[in-house]
Amino acid sequence: MEIRRFSVIGAGQMGSGIAQVAAQAGMEVVMHDLEEERVQRGLRGIEKNLKRSVDKGRIAEEEMTQVLNRIRTTTDLKEAAEHADIVVEAVVENMSVKQEVFRKLDEWCPEHAILASNTSSLPITEIAAVTKRPEKVIGMHFMNPVPVMKLVEVIRGLATADEVYAEVEALARRMGKTPVEVKDFPGFVSNRVLMPMINEAIYAVYEGVATPEAVDEVMKLGMNHPMGPLTLADFIGLDTCLYIMETLYEGFGDPKYRPCPLLRKYVKAGWLGRKTGRGFYVYD
Ligand code: CAA
Ligand code: NAD
Repeated sequence: MEIRRFSVIGAGQMGSGIAQVAAQAGMEVVMHDLEEERVQRGLRGIEKNLKRSVDKGRIAEEEMTQVLNRIRTTTDLKEAAEHADIVVEAVVENMSVKQEVFRKLDEWCPEHAILASNTSSLPITEIAAVTKRPEKVIGMHFMNPVPVMKLVEVIRGLATADEVYAEVEALARRMGKTPVEVKDFPGFVSNRVLMPMINEAIYAVYEGVATPEAVDEVMKLGMNHPMGPLTLADFIGLDTCLYIMETLYEGFGDPKYRPCPLLRKYVKAGWLGRKTGRGFYVYD
Protein backbone atom coordinates (compact mmCIF):
# COMPACT_ATOMS: atom_id res chain seq x y z
CA MET A 1 0.00 0.00 0.00
CA GLU A 2 1.28 3.47 -0.79
CA ILE A 3 0.64 5.75 2.17
CA ARG A 4 -0.66 9.06 0.83
CA ARG A 5 -3.21 10.20 3.40
CA PHE A 6 -1.76 10.94 6.83
CA SER A 7 -3.72 12.02 9.90
CA VAL A 8 -2.30 13.36 13.13
CA ILE A 9 -4.28 13.36 16.37
CA GLY A 10 -3.14 16.09 18.78
CA ALA A 11 -1.71 19.34 17.44
CA GLY A 12 0.71 20.08 20.29
CA GLN A 13 4.46 20.41 19.88
CA MET A 14 4.84 16.81 18.66
CA GLY A 15 1.66 16.51 16.59
CA SER A 16 2.31 19.77 14.73
CA GLY A 17 5.94 18.76 14.04
CA ILE A 18 4.84 15.36 12.72
CA ALA A 19 2.18 17.00 10.51
CA GLN A 20 4.80 19.38 9.09
CA VAL A 21 7.28 16.64 8.24
CA ALA A 22 4.55 14.44 6.70
CA ALA A 23 3.39 17.33 4.49
CA GLN A 24 6.98 18.09 3.50
CA ALA A 25 7.28 14.44 2.43
CA GLY A 26 4.36 15.04 0.02
CA MET A 27 1.47 13.48 1.94
CA GLU A 28 -2.04 14.91 2.34
CA VAL A 29 -2.28 15.67 6.04
CA VAL A 30 -5.21 16.20 8.38
CA MET A 31 -4.30 17.53 11.84
CA HIS A 32 -6.85 17.16 14.62
CA ASP A 33 -7.12 18.56 18.14
CA LEU A 34 -10.00 19.05 20.55
CA GLU A 35 -10.40 22.80 20.08
CA GLU A 36 -10.02 25.19 17.15
CA GLU A 37 -7.63 27.38 19.15
CA ARG A 38 -5.25 24.42 19.61
CA VAL A 39 -5.18 23.38 15.96
CA GLN A 40 -4.58 26.99 14.97
CA ARG A 41 -1.68 27.24 17.44
CA GLY A 42 -0.21 24.06 15.92
CA LEU A 43 -0.61 25.48 12.43
CA ARG A 44 1.07 28.76 13.44
CA GLY A 45 4.05 26.74 14.72
CA ILE A 46 4.33 24.97 11.37
CA GLU A 47 4.12 28.28 9.47
CA LYS A 48 6.85 29.76 11.68
CA ASN A 49 9.17 26.78 11.09
CA LEU A 50 8.61 26.85 7.32
CA LYS A 51 9.15 30.63 7.15
CA ARG A 52 12.44 30.18 8.98
CA SER A 53 13.44 27.56 6.39
CA VAL A 54 12.55 30.01 3.59
CA ASP A 55 14.54 32.81 5.26
CA LYS A 56 17.54 30.50 5.58
CA GLY A 57 17.26 29.59 1.88
CA ARG A 58 16.60 25.90 2.57
CA ILE A 59 13.24 25.86 0.78
CA ALA A 60 11.60 28.15 -1.78
CA GLU A 61 8.59 30.28 -0.84
CA GLU A 62 6.54 28.31 -3.37
CA GLU A 63 7.36 25.06 -1.57
CA MET A 64 6.23 26.55 1.72
CA THR A 65 2.84 27.38 0.15
CA GLN A 66 2.55 23.88 -1.31
CA VAL A 67 3.37 22.25 2.03
CA LEU A 68 0.83 24.42 3.86
CA ASN A 69 -1.81 23.62 1.23
CA ARG A 70 -1.34 19.92 1.99
CA ILE A 71 -2.34 20.42 5.65
CA ARG A 72 -6.00 20.51 6.63
CA THR A 73 -7.13 20.96 10.23
CA THR A 74 -10.22 19.70 12.03
CA THR A 75 -11.71 19.39 15.50
CA ASP A 76 -13.80 16.43 14.31
CA LEU A 77 -11.97 13.15 15.06
CA LYS A 78 -14.20 11.20 12.69
CA GLU A 79 -13.17 13.42 9.77
CA ALA A 80 -9.48 12.85 10.57
CA ALA A 81 -10.04 9.09 10.94
CA GLU A 82 -11.98 8.63 7.69
CA HIS A 83 -9.23 10.40 5.73
CA ALA A 84 -6.39 8.15 6.75
CA ASP A 85 -4.09 5.49 5.31
CA ILE A 86 -2.17 6.00 8.55
CA VAL A 87 -2.96 7.86 11.76
CA VAL A 88 -0.24 9.00 14.14
CA GLU A 89 -1.66 9.76 17.57
CA ALA A 90 0.18 12.42 19.60
CA VAL A 91 -2.23 13.32 22.42
CA VAL A 92 -1.32 13.61 26.10
CA GLU A 93 0.80 10.75 27.60
CA ASN A 94 -2.07 9.04 29.40
CA MET A 95 -3.18 5.45 28.77
CA SER A 96 -6.93 5.94 29.21
CA VAL A 97 -6.99 9.02 26.94
CA LYS A 98 -4.97 7.19 24.28
CA GLN A 99 -7.15 4.07 24.51
CA GLU A 100 -10.29 6.16 24.08
CA VAL A 101 -8.80 7.78 20.96
CA PHE A 102 -7.77 4.36 19.55
CA ARG A 103 -11.24 2.86 20.19
CA LYS A 104 -12.77 5.61 18.06
CA LEU A 105 -10.05 5.47 15.41
CA ASP A 106 -10.58 1.72 15.09
CA GLU A 107 -14.27 2.31 14.55
CA TRP A 108 -13.93 5.15 12.02
CA CYS A 109 -10.70 4.54 10.09
CA PRO A 110 -10.74 2.61 6.80
CA GLU A 111 -10.05 -1.10 7.27
CA HIS A 112 -6.59 -0.87 5.70
CA ALA A 113 -5.42 2.02 7.91
CA ILE A 114 -2.42 1.67 10.21
CA LEU A 115 -2.86 3.13 13.70
CA ALA A 116 0.40 4.44 15.13
CA SER A 117 1.12 6.04 18.49
CA ASN A 118 3.84 8.59 19.19
CA THR A 119 3.76 7.60 22.87
CA SER A 120 7.01 8.20 24.77
CA SER A 121 6.70 5.24 27.07
CA LEU A 122 3.30 3.53 27.20
CA PRO A 123 2.91 -0.11 26.10
CA ILE A 124 1.82 -0.36 22.45
CA THR A 125 0.34 -3.81 23.17
CA GLU A 126 -2.04 -2.32 25.75
CA ILE A 127 -3.14 0.44 23.37
CA ALA A 128 -3.62 -2.12 20.57
CA ALA A 129 -5.74 -4.34 22.82
CA VAL A 130 -8.71 -1.94 22.69
CA THR A 131 -8.86 -2.23 18.88
CA LYS A 132 -10.02 -5.03 16.58
CA ARG A 133 -6.86 -4.61 14.48
CA PRO A 134 -3.91 -5.09 16.90
CA GLU A 135 -1.80 -6.33 13.96
CA LYS A 136 -2.06 -2.82 12.45
CA VAL A 137 -1.13 -0.96 15.66
CA ILE A 138 2.48 0.17 16.11
CA GLY A 139 4.63 2.74 17.91
CA MET A 140 6.12 5.50 15.78
CA HIS A 141 8.10 7.56 18.28
CA PHE A 142 9.41 10.82 16.84
CA MET A 143 11.85 13.03 18.80
CA ASN A 144 11.43 16.69 19.70
CA PRO A 145 11.85 19.00 17.74
CA VAL A 146 10.46 16.71 15.04
CA PRO A 147 11.68 18.69 11.99
CA VAL A 148 15.26 18.54 13.31
CA MET A 149 15.77 15.19 15.04
CA LYS A 150 16.66 12.24 12.82
CA LEU A 151 15.42 9.34 14.93
CA VAL A 152 12.12 7.48 14.86
CA GLU A 153 11.89 4.58 17.32
CA VAL A 154 9.59 2.02 15.72
CA ILE A 155 7.97 -0.16 18.37
CA ARG A 156 6.39 -3.51 17.66
CA GLY A 157 3.44 -4.44 19.84
CA LEU A 158 2.94 -8.12 20.61
CA ALA A 159 0.61 -8.55 17.62
CA THR A 160 2.12 -6.04 15.14
CA ALA A 161 2.33 -7.65 11.66
CA ASP A 162 5.71 -7.79 9.89
CA GLU A 163 4.30 -6.03 6.81
CA VAL A 164 2.97 -3.18 8.99
CA TYR A 165 6.40 -2.83 10.59
CA ALA A 166 8.00 -2.74 7.11
CA GLU A 167 5.52 -0.08 5.88
CA VAL A 168 6.16 2.16 8.88
CA GLU A 169 9.91 1.75 8.59
CA ALA A 170 9.73 2.77 4.91
CA LEU A 171 7.45 5.69 5.80
CA ALA A 172 9.91 6.96 8.42
CA ARG A 173 12.64 6.95 5.75
CA ARG A 174 10.35 8.78 3.32
CA MET A 175 9.94 11.43 6.01
CA GLY A 176 13.72 11.86 6.12
CA LYS A 177 14.14 9.98 9.40
CA THR A 178 16.19 6.98 10.49
CA PRO A 179 14.02 4.23 11.99
CA VAL A 180 15.36 2.04 14.79
CA GLU A 181 13.50 -1.11 15.81
CA VAL A 182 12.69 -1.48 19.49
CA LYS A 183 10.57 -4.00 21.42
CA ASP A 184 7.60 -3.05 23.52
CA PHE A 185 9.05 -2.37 27.00
CA PRO A 186 8.32 0.63 29.25
CA GLY A 187 10.08 3.75 27.93
CA PHE A 188 11.40 1.71 24.95
CA VAL A 189 15.11 2.60 24.66
CA SER A 190 15.09 6.40 24.32
CA ASN A 191 13.24 7.27 27.50
CA ARG A 192 14.50 4.32 29.52
CA VAL A 193 17.94 5.87 29.15
CA LEU A 194 17.15 9.61 28.92
CA MET A 195 14.46 10.08 31.55
CA PRO A 196 16.27 8.60 34.59
CA MET A 197 19.10 11.04 33.80
CA ILE A 198 16.66 13.95 33.78
CA ASN A 199 15.02 12.66 36.99
CA GLU A 200 18.45 12.38 38.64
CA ALA A 201 19.27 15.95 37.59
CA ILE A 202 16.02 17.06 39.29
CA TYR A 203 17.07 15.13 42.43
CA ALA A 204 20.37 17.03 42.40
CA VAL A 205 18.41 20.31 42.54
CA TYR A 206 15.90 18.89 45.10
CA GLU A 207 18.73 17.81 47.41
CA GLY A 208 20.46 21.18 47.08
CA VAL A 209 23.54 19.74 45.36
CA ALA A 210 23.49 22.51 42.76
CA THR A 211 21.25 25.09 41.08
CA PRO A 212 19.45 24.20 37.82
CA GLU A 213 21.89 26.47 35.97
CA ALA A 214 24.89 24.67 37.48
CA VAL A 215 23.49 21.19 36.72
CA ASP A 216 22.87 22.21 33.10
CA GLU A 217 26.34 23.77 32.76
CA VAL A 218 27.96 20.55 34.01
CA MET A 219 26.18 18.40 31.46
CA LYS A 220 26.61 20.87 28.56
CA LEU A 221 30.27 21.70 29.07
CA GLY A 222 31.30 18.42 30.68
CA MET A 223 29.43 15.96 28.47
CA ASN A 224 28.82 18.03 25.34
CA HIS A 225 25.03 17.68 25.59
CA PRO A 226 23.36 20.33 23.36
CA MET A 227 20.96 21.23 26.20
CA GLY A 228 21.36 20.63 29.93
CA PRO A 229 18.90 18.08 31.40
CA LEU A 230 16.71 20.69 33.10
CA THR A 231 16.47 22.87 29.99
CA LEU A 232 15.62 19.68 28.10
CA ALA A 233 12.98 18.71 30.70
CA ASP A 234 11.35 22.15 30.30
CA PHE A 235 11.52 21.68 26.52
CA ILE A 236 9.91 18.22 26.61
CA GLY A 237 7.24 19.30 29.14
CA LEU A 238 7.42 18.43 32.85
CA ASP A 239 4.00 16.71 32.69
CA THR A 240 5.32 14.40 29.97
CA CYS A 241 8.52 13.75 31.99
CA LEU A 242 6.44 12.80 35.05
CA TYR A 243 4.14 10.51 33.04
CA ILE A 244 7.18 8.76 31.59
CA MET A 245 8.81 8.26 35.02
CA GLU A 246 5.53 6.90 36.36
CA THR A 247 5.33 4.44 33.46
CA LEU A 248 8.91 3.26 34.11
CA TYR A 249 8.28 2.98 37.88
CA GLU A 250 5.05 1.06 37.45
CA GLY A 251 6.24 -1.01 34.49
CA PHE A 252 9.49 -2.26 36.06
CA GLY A 253 8.45 -2.08 39.74
CA ASP A 254 11.96 -0.88 40.58
CA PRO A 255 12.43 2.01 43.07
CA LYS A 256 15.30 3.37 40.99
CA TYR A 257 12.64 4.86 38.70
CA ARG A 258 10.70 6.75 41.42
CA PRO A 259 9.83 10.24 40.15
CA CYS A 260 11.51 13.06 42.11
CA PRO A 261 9.04 14.81 44.48
CA LEU A 262 10.16 18.18 43.07
CA LEU A 263 9.02 17.08 39.59
CA ARG A 264 5.61 16.14 41.04
CA LYS A 265 5.38 19.49 42.83
CA TYR A 266 6.14 21.49 39.69
CA VAL A 267 3.54 19.58 37.68
CA LYS A 268 0.94 20.07 40.43
CA ALA A 269 1.73 23.81 40.38
CA GLY A 270 1.11 23.87 36.61
CA TRP A 271 4.79 24.66 35.96
CA LEU A 272 5.07 22.43 32.92
CA GLY A 273 8.11 24.09 31.30
CA ARG A 274 8.27 26.09 28.11
CA LYS A 275 4.67 25.42 27.11
CA THR A 276 3.29 27.16 30.24
CA GLY A 277 6.05 29.80 30.47
CA ARG A 278 7.58 28.37 33.65
CA GLY A 279 9.38 25.20 34.72
CA PHE A 280 12.93 25.07 36.05
CA TYR A 281 13.36 28.35 34.15
CA VAL A 282 11.03 31.24 33.33
CA TYR A 283 10.19 31.97 29.66
CA ASP A 284 8.64 35.06 28.05
N1 CAA B 1 11.34 23.39 15.67
C1 CAA B 1 11.91 23.31 14.46
N2 CAA B 1 13.21 23.58 14.23
C2 CAA B 1 13.96 23.98 15.28
C3 CAA B 1 13.42 24.10 16.57
C4 CAA B 1 12.05 23.78 16.75
N3 CAA B 1 11.46 23.84 17.95
N4 CAA B 1 14.40 24.52 17.40
C5 CAA B 1 15.52 24.64 16.66
N5 CAA B 1 15.25 24.32 15.38
C6 CAA B 1 16.21 24.30 14.27
C7 CAA B 1 16.74 25.67 13.94
O1 CAA B 1 15.94 26.31 12.97
C8 CAA B 1 18.12 25.37 13.40
O2 CAA B 1 18.03 24.96 12.05
P1 CAA B 1 19.25 25.27 11.01
O3 CAA B 1 20.52 24.95 11.71
O4 CAA B 1 18.97 24.36 9.87
O5 CAA B 1 19.12 26.68 10.70
C9 CAA B 1 18.56 24.14 14.19
O6 CAA B 1 17.36 23.56 14.71
C10 CAA B 1 19.50 24.52 15.31
O7 CAA B 1 18.86 25.49 16.11
P2 CAA B 1 19.59 26.65 16.90
O8 CAA B 1 20.88 26.99 16.21
O9 CAA B 1 18.62 27.73 17.14
O10 CAA B 1 19.82 26.02 18.33
P3 CAA B 1 20.69 24.81 18.78
O11 CAA B 1 21.91 24.64 17.96
O12 CAA B 1 20.79 24.96 20.24
O13 CAA B 1 19.77 23.52 18.45
C11 CAA B 1 18.25 21.91 19.21
C12 CAA B 1 18.49 23.39 18.96
C13 CAA B 1 18.32 21.13 17.90
C14 CAA B 1 16.85 21.78 19.81
C15 CAA B 1 19.37 21.38 20.19
O14 CAA B 1 19.43 22.20 21.33
C16 CAA B 1 19.17 19.97 20.63
O15 CAA B 1 19.48 19.02 19.91
N6 CAA B 1 18.63 19.79 21.85
C17 CAA B 1 18.35 18.45 22.39
C18 CAA B 1 17.06 17.92 21.78
C19 CAA B 1 16.73 16.56 22.28
O16 CAA B 1 17.42 15.92 23.06
N7 CAA B 1 15.57 16.06 21.83
C20 CAA B 1 15.04 14.82 22.29
C21 CAA B 1 14.07 15.09 23.41
S1 CAA B 1 13.43 13.61 24.10
C22 CAA B 1 12.26 13.15 23.03
O17 CAA B 1 11.93 13.79 22.08
C23 CAA B 1 11.59 11.84 23.34
C24 CAA B 1 10.51 11.87 24.32
O18 CAA B 1 9.66 10.97 24.21
C25 CAA B 1 10.41 12.81 25.45
P1 NAD C 1 1.40 18.75 24.10
O1 NAD C 1 0.87 18.97 25.46
O2 NAD C 1 2.23 19.78 23.44
O3 NAD C 1 0.20 18.40 23.09
C1 NAD C 1 -0.78 17.45 23.34
C2 NAD C 1 -2.01 17.86 22.52
O4 NAD C 1 -2.95 16.78 22.56
C3 NAD C 1 -2.71 19.09 23.09
O5 NAD C 1 -2.83 20.07 22.07
C4 NAD C 1 -4.07 18.57 23.53
O6 NAD C 1 -5.13 19.48 23.32
C5 NAD C 1 -4.24 17.36 22.62
N1 NAD C 1 -5.19 16.37 23.13
C6 NAD C 1 -5.34 15.91 24.40
N2 NAD C 1 -6.32 14.99 24.45
C7 NAD C 1 -6.79 14.85 23.17
C8 NAD C 1 -7.79 14.05 22.57
N3 NAD C 1 -8.51 13.19 23.29
N4 NAD C 1 -7.99 14.16 21.23
C9 NAD C 1 -7.27 15.03 20.48
N5 NAD C 1 -6.30 15.81 21.00
C10 NAD C 1 -6.07 15.72 22.32
O7 NAD C 1 2.19 17.36 24.20
P2 NAD C 1 3.37 16.80 23.25
O8 NAD C 1 4.67 17.17 23.85
O9 NAD C 1 3.06 17.15 21.84
O10 NAD C 1 3.21 15.22 23.48
C11 NAD C 1 2.24 14.47 22.78
C12 NAD C 1 2.63 13.00 22.81
O11 NAD C 1 3.94 12.84 22.23
C13 NAD C 1 2.71 12.37 24.21
O12 NAD C 1 2.32 11.03 24.14
C14 NAD C 1 4.19 12.49 24.52
O13 NAD C 1 4.64 11.55 25.47
C15 NAD C 1 4.80 12.20 23.16
N6 NAD C 1 6.16 12.71 22.95
C16 NAD C 1 6.53 13.90 23.48
C17 NAD C 1 7.82 14.37 23.26
C18 NAD C 1 8.27 15.68 23.82
O14 NAD C 1 9.48 15.95 23.83
N7 NAD C 1 7.40 16.53 24.27
C19 NAD C 1 8.71 13.63 22.46
C20 NAD C 1 8.27 12.42 21.89
C21 NAD C 1 6.99 11.96 22.15
